[in-house]
Amino acid sequence: MELFQNHSPSQIQAYPAHVPDDILRFHRALPGYASTPLISLDGIAGDLGVERLLVKDEGRRFGLKAFKALGASYAVYRVLHERSGGLLEPEEFVGERGRELAEGTTFSCATDGNHGRAVAWIAGLLGRPAVIYVPRGTVPARIDAIQSERARVVVVDGGYDDAVKHAAKEGKDNRVIIADTAYPGYTKIPRYIQQGYLTIFREVSEQLEERGEGSPDIVFIQAGVGAFASAAAMFFNNPSDGVRLICVEPEAVDCLFRSAKAGDGMPRSVPSGADTIMAGLNCETPSLTAWPAVRDRFDAFVSMEDHWAREAMRCLAAEGVVSGESGAAGLAALIALCKERPDFLSEGLHLHDNARILVINTEADTDPDAYRRIVGFQGS
Ligand SMILES: Cc1ncc(COP(=O)(O)O)c(C=O)c1O
Repeated sequence: MELFQNHSPSQIQAYPAHVPDDILRFHRALPGYASTPLISLDGIAGDLGVERLLVKDEGRRFGLKAFKALGASYAVYRVLHERSGGLLEPEEFVGERGRELAEGTTFSCATDGNHGRAVAWIAGLLGRPAVIYVPRGTVPARIDAIQSERARVVVVDGGYDDAVKHAAKEGKDNRVIIADTAYPGYTKIPRYIQQGYLTIFREVSEQLEERGEGSPDIVFIQAGVGAFASAAAMFFNNPSDGVRLICVEPEAVDCLFRSAKAGDGMPRSVPSGADTIMAGLNCETPSLTAWPAVRDRFDAFVSMEDHWAREAMRCLAAEGVVSGESGAAGLAALIALCKERPDFLSEGLHLHDNARILVINTEADTDPDAYRRIVGFQGS
């Protein structure tokens, strides 16, 4: 495991500190919406010698096994909202009005699996087709899950960046691209996706409040292009509130870690074709709109080997939480830090002994065969 600390995290100016009301209102109006569980991991906390450890279980979001539909759905809502001249109400999205506004539209995107399934699901809710681009080597289970939402899947001979380019090029004239990563000339939709993920943190704070607990002291966020991490940066946007944020990546594709470490503020890409079991995090380039928020606000960046993710999956399974390779990455980084850099949390980040630690299980067993091999039994 490698660690890079940002000694002067700063407040993000570009975003509102609080979730705009229509985001949560919009998600609540979607079919199958339920706040995902916030579960106390007492056994793991005891083993790691930490006082309080919580996992937000996004593996159960909308029955899609991952958190991604929060971003994709909100972005598609904003597209239709704009088409309606600002008149489409969140509650009208799934219904006659939403379908009318979506008429004639084919939705498209690139994905490592979860985002594409989410876009296909939303397109299906609106009665529209979707074309989803996946990198070479995407496992059949993830392709099947996208196809189960009645989308067409195109396998691109390359990595995530290549899939993004293909989706952009082939869809530029006649499709609406719902990309989760921003690049020059394409930033509006990725920003909506980033905002959509804010619902997770809004729910967490409501859940903690209901239990009479305050904010987490530290949050581990796994990153691919960094859109999800940027939502954490937006929500916990003022470092002086005392919430530490740790960005977590696989060492094979640690583009945010490398960008942070380079120290000149510029994003860096890593080569494509790298192998990691954390498929959802296998992205070579930080999102243009997410990177500045992550760079400025995050306290530390972890780059870690795959074996930590396997260990975390097993720990979570023992506590009854079904977590896939990318889903377990946040906990994996906590385990890695406790074992390899045991002083970092207390001395590097000045965390007190009874700190409240939050990890997010961002996916369930999206590759059930791999899950069974790693954990030893079936997931869901
Ligand atoms: C399960 C899972 N966790 C985390 C992420 C990281 O999200 P982002 O690409 O926004 O950094 C992804 C991205 O696809 C994912 O599928």
